[in-house]
Parts: sequence; structure tokens; C-alpha cells
Amino acid sequence: MQVFAILPAAGLGTRMAGPQPKQFLTLDGVPILIHSLRAFAAVPRVTAIYVAVRGTEMQRVQAQIAEYGFTHRVHVVEGGDKRQESVAHALAALPAQPDDIVLVHDAVRPLIDAATIERTIDAVAEHGAAIVGLPAVDTIKQVERTAHGALITATIPREFVVLAQTPQGFRFSLLQSAFAEAANDGFVGTDEASLVERAGHPVAVVHGSATNLKITQPGDLELAEYYLRKRSH
Ligand code: C5P
Repeated sequence: MQVFAILPAAGLGTRMAGPQPKQFLTLDGVPILIHSLRAFAAVPRVTAIYVAVRGTEMQRVQAQIAEYGFTHRVHVVEGGDKRQESVAHALAALPAQPDDIVLVHDAVRPLIDAATIERTIDAVAEHGAAIVGLPAVDTIKQVERTAHGALITATIPREFVVLAQTPQGFRFSLLQSAFAEAANDGFVGTDEASLVERAGHPVAVVHGSATNLKITQPGDLELAEYYLRKRSH
């Protein structure tokens, strides 16, 4: 059984101030995408890593991958306008067998650690589908958006809530059929698990951590730098 990792990195990062897509910003002098790649390259069970990037960024990413010495197990494919499309392109490029495992990880979660990746692989081997999730500590409100903000329509008991992170892992055949079904129905999800859930397959949850943050807004970089420094001490 082989394990493949897909890193969608074709986003524009519009919530981050500045002209640079966030996956190319640096953390401790190293591009965010390279931090994420390092984490997966550090897991011997991961056979190959596929990075999806914008067509215009392919050369720059190839050069970075070579600069950091990853040429061996890393492949670059062209992404699409939506995250789901970027993952679909990478999925189509995988030389995978039905029983192989595919992990999808946001390129902009650079602090993922090898132990969490390993636990996700184990859970996928057992359940067929598993994601990293963080139990909610805040009280969760469902709202209706209004012109001036939002109005609460319900309180969702937090014991029933986890915040979905990545990696999200699946048997190749399951992910492939869930993507085909979604494409057929015109369904677009914000993560892979939502496609697999609607296909009717149970998805297990592996305990995540707050340090596995998604670099999204200004300020997240400083927090990630802090976690990184703490980890290396
Ligand atoms: O936009 P969001 O924060 O959900 O992005 C999560 C990941 O998906 C990022 O690593 C981003 O680069 C990637 N993405 C992509 N293709 C897109 C949009 C987002 O690969 N069209």
C-alpha cells in the first residue's frame, strides 16, 4: 500500500494583505509551502507528494523545490480556480491503486507535524477515511447574515462540533468516486471530507492541535513564527 500526499497551493490568498500568495510568504526565512513539504517528506510512509500551483507559479515552485532538495518525491501539477479543482487535478495525476491512501493537506498549514500525519494514515487504514479535527472550545452559534452583521438563529452544543483541519485522508478509490459524484452533481465543498460524507461514507476524526493553524489573515504569520520558535527550543 502506498501513501500519496496532495498539497493544494494554488490559492490567491485574498484575505492576506499584500500581492504575494500566502503559500509563498516566508516563515523563519523559509517559504510556507516548503515547511509543509518538509513535514510530509519526513514521513517515510509517504511515497510521493503532489503540489498543485497556479500555471504562472509552476516555474517558481519547481525552482524552490530544487533549491530545498526535494526533487526526488515531489511533483508539481497545475491547480484550478477552486481548491476542489486543484485537488482534482492532482488526483488525476496520481499513479495510485484503489487501496492506496491519499492525504490532502492545505499548503498554508506549515506547522503540521509528522506524528499527526502518521496518526491520520493509521486512521485511514482502519476506517477508509479520516481527517484531523480540533474540538471546539468556544460556544458555537448558527447565524443568519444581515446587512449589519449577523443574528443568532441557534446554539450548537460544542460537544457535537470539531473544527476541520488537514490532513484529510482517504482510500484512493473512495476519494476518486466522491470527486466524480460531486462533479456530476455540481457540488463544490470547502474540504474533501464534505464530498466523501455526501457520498455516504463515514469519516473518522483524529485529534488536531491549535498549532496546526491555517495562515489566512495578517497576524497568523506572527503566531506561526511564535509556535515554530517554541517547537525548536
Ligand atoms: O482559501 P483556503 O484558505 O481555503 O485555501 C486552502 C488551501 O487551498 C491553500 O493552500 C490554497 O493555496 C489552496 N487552494 C488551491 N486552489 C485554489 C484555492 C485554494 O490550491 N483555487
